[in-house]
Amino acid sequence: MAAGAHRRQMAVFLAAALFLAAVLLLQAANAADAGVTSKYRRKLEATVDMPLDADVFRVPPGYNAPQQVHITLGDQEGTAMLVSWVTPNELGNTTVMYGGAPDRMDMQAQGIHTRYDYFNYTSGFIHHCFLKNLKHSTKYYYAMGFGHTVRAFSFTTPPKPGPDAPIKFGLIGDLGQTFDSNATLSHYEANGGDAVLYLGDLSYADHYPLHDNNRWDTWARFVERSVAYQPWIWTAGNHELDYAPEIGETAPFKPFTHRYPTPYRAAGSTEPFWYSVKLASAHVIVLASYSAYGKYTPQWTWLQDELANRVDRNATPWLIVLVHSPWYNSNSYHYMEGETMRVQFEQWVVDARADLVLAGHVHSYERSHRVSNVAYDIINGKSTPVRDPRAPVYVTIGDGGNVEGIANNFTEPQPAYSAFREASFGHATLDIKNRTHAYYAWHRNQDGAKVVADGVWITNRHWMPTNDDGDTTH
Ligand SMILES: *[C@@H]1O[C@H](CO)[C@@H](O)[C@H](O)[C@H]1NC(C)=O
Ligand SMILES: *[C@@H]1O[C@H](CO)[C@@H](O)[C@H](O)[C@H]1NC(C)=O
Ligand SMILES: *[C@@H]1O[C@H](CO)[C@@H](O)[C@H](O)[C@H]1NC(C)=O
Ligand SMILES: *[C@@H]1O[C@H](CO)[C@@H](O)[C@H](O)[C@H]1NC(C)=O
Ligand SMILES: *[C@@H]1O[C@H](CO)[C@@H](O)[C@H](O)[C@H]1NC(C)=O
Ligand SMILES: [Fe+2]
Repeated sequence: MAAGAHRRQMAVFLAAALFLAAVLLLQAANAADAGVTSKYRRKLEATVDMPLDADVFRVPPGYNAPQQVHITLGDQEGTAMLVSWVTPNELGNTTVMYGGAPDRMDMQAQGIHTRYDYFNYTSGFIHHCFLKNLKHSTKYYYAMGFGHTVRAFSFTTPPKPGPDAPIKFGLIGDLGQTFDSNATLSHYEANGGDAVLYLGDLSYADHYPLHDNNRWDTWARFVERSVAYQPWIWTAGNHELDYAPEIGETAPFKPFTHRYPTPYRAAGSTEPFWYSVKLASAHVIVLASYSAYGKYTPQWTWLQDELANRVDRNATPWLIVLVHSPWYNSNSYHYMEGETMRVQFEQWVVDARADLVLAGHVHSYERSHRVSNVAYDIINGKSTPVRDPRAPVYVTIGDGGNVEGIANNFTEPQPAYSAFREASFGHATLDIKNRTHAYYAWHRNQDGAKVVADGVWITNRHWMPTNDDGDTTH
């Protein structure tokens, strides 16, 4: 073979090799970037409600004993707590006694009470009591039921809002009251958090004929073991609507609003369904998927004002948005339902450099990359989500384990915005360490509570606006 031909052959070979290497590199880069649809397959078994005589639904002993005790924040600063409970037999005493030790509950607050009818159901006596002027990061003991059966509980107030105040949130959505729900709650308890950000859909009582409101009572007895001891922040879901004109129940959210008060007035809101609270270094905004949010509506006006005038990232660097119906969801279940709200509010959330938008509704788990889809207008036609370091991470955590079962039909192929998705029940925790770092971890119920099935270090958008989030653990 002539030397010239050989050289030419070598050159062709080298070019081919270089091309191949480039292709491989590109593929590797794509693989690192591509989303993961978890290969984990849960055993598909029936998801059934725990029976009425299950241990978790047990009525506390004693005449007119307070039951369904739950607390939520009472103000924006963490110096007030709203305590609620139900007495079954008679009104009884609406006073809460509280103090710094079990034998020193020397302060008292007077509550109010309410009841409601739902078709042929009549609720017990629902008490709400506002404890105010509490100290931050302080353990309080509290008791109610004086005159008949007294029950006592305790909670620790959150730290004073401040840029480096740590806090660990539990993230739970669509819990319901099945055996799986009980596993989710047990795992959350084992992982330990300071407060729960609840993403909506509580009891699923509306799954029963006539929306059997006794299932609102059983749900509240079931979760008492956590929510009597730490505040849960409530988001309203579609299963809170209880809108049933066929049986004459036309006032939406009737059971929910009677049972679960929120501190909306302290947040300048006019309805209990959208509001905000500050917890340690987090400013948490709760939005309402099932209340009007179009331009000029009360929710729209409130959110505009909230983002412009009340969010202070120097004081509370973590901006977290809760909403029931997800804006980014690649499951065929409830596909695109959150789209109109995304169109309405996504630009604001990106401009505000929100850290996380958490949602429920879809009974599966999904976490997005930092993406936005705000370039679209009706003329330019740009409607593909793009990577955007200014944008929040979207998490769908409607996987609490309710009676409707798992949403196991993801759209294919996995869209580029989706980082990780899995059709399993579970819960997540968000462990805020300081102004720059938080560790986010999702736990599937089939594993021990400590196993992290999807974990990522999240960096704060205010203090580290261009920083990539850390590596993920699967
Ligand atoms: C629910 O979970 C708790 C705590 O793990 C357990 O004690 C209880 O027996 C469970 N109840 C049911 C009905 O599974
Ligand atoms: C309710 O209980 C509190 C605390 O024991 C007591 O001070 C108050 O007088 C009681 N109220 C009524 C109406 O019995
Ligand atoms: C309500 O009506 C349903 C259906 O007629 C019936 O099964 C149930 O026992 C009634 N409940 C009460 C409290 O009357
Ligand atoms: C799964 O979702 C696709 C749409 O993405 C739909 O066409 C299909 O019918 C669904 N399959 C099942 C079993 O629900
Ligand atoms: C914030 O927490 C992270 C994770 O624990 C740590 O690496 C970092 O050094 C902390 N930053 C400051 C300023 O303390
Ligand atoms: Fe829902």
